[in-house]
Amino acid sequence: MADQWQEAYDFAVQVARAAGAVIRKAGEEEIKVQTKSCTVDLVTKTDERVEKIIIGSLKEQFGEGTHCFIGEESVAKGQPCILTDKPTWIIDPVDGTTNFVHGFPFVAVSIAFAVNKELEFGVVYSCMEDKMYKARKGQGAFCDDEPIQVSDVKDIHKSIIICEHGTDRSPETVQKIFSTQKKILCIPVHGLRGSGTAATNMCLVACGAVEAFFEIGIHCWDIAAGAVIVREAGGLLLDVDGGPFDVMSRRMVSGNNRVIVNRIIKEIEIFDTVRDDAPIVKK
Ligand code: IPD
Repeated sequence: MADQWQEAYDFAVQVARAAGAVIRKAGEEEIKVQTKSCTVDLVTKTDERVEKIIIGSLKEQFGEGTHCFIGEESVAKGQPCILTDKPTWIIDPVDGTTNFVHGFPFVAVSIAFAVNKELEFGVVYSCMEDKMYKARKGQGAFCDDEPIQVSDVKDIHKSIIICEHGTDRSPETVQKIFSTQKKILCIPVHGLRGSGTAATNMCLVACGAVEAFFEIGIHCWDIAAGAVIVREAGGLLLDVDGGPFDVMSRRMVSGNNRVIVNRIIKEIEIFDTVRDDAPIVKK
């Protein structure tokens, strides 16, 4: 069964495109905003609706019970966030919810698929720019069906690095984030950027527009699809302490090569986060 997951991969692309159309349309209407873990962690009816559409279509196609699902909004409502050996879809229906709410034009649908805890393929549809990024393990990465590759820059001084601020506004965390960014900017690098969607940020690494993107505090649904796309475009992923990348750890550096990634890691001030798959503590 050499090509066991090809149908799932192709279907994920279709589903992501359809989901993106729903998001674009919803962006033209009034957006009602609610908050989740804190006042800057936003959610809209569109996030919930699009996740239902995606999971519903996948269940209809592949049969209820055969596949597992980790979806941002389902987890927010108490569903487990555990990666087992079973075929598992990891979904962010609207990556860049804050952008969506504000009309800042970078919003992505992120759909990844893992088997035996290994990421098999990833699809990121940057729906406002209508760009479809996709990659399957061992088969290369693509944007709108054109092969993409990470940049070949090895000199950090000639790099652009993406960093985000996440949603933790505790002064200690914000201090570490800005201190890290200041140190990187002053290496110096050509510039710092951030699109407001982790999935899109990883695709920007994959297509060579920037050299690296790192964040502490992201979730598996923000980065799982992008991880496959970065790897297949020739890039690499590590933990922020230089250890192996772990999609559940909520920490990640993605970059075009080890020289750049190691240089970034030297400057990162690490702060604590709770793993995505940590047991839920009942209060
Ligand atoms: C967020 C975006 C953002 C990143 C945050 C994520 P969401 O995802 O990916 O770029 O900085 O950490 O939570 O909430 O819009 O799906």
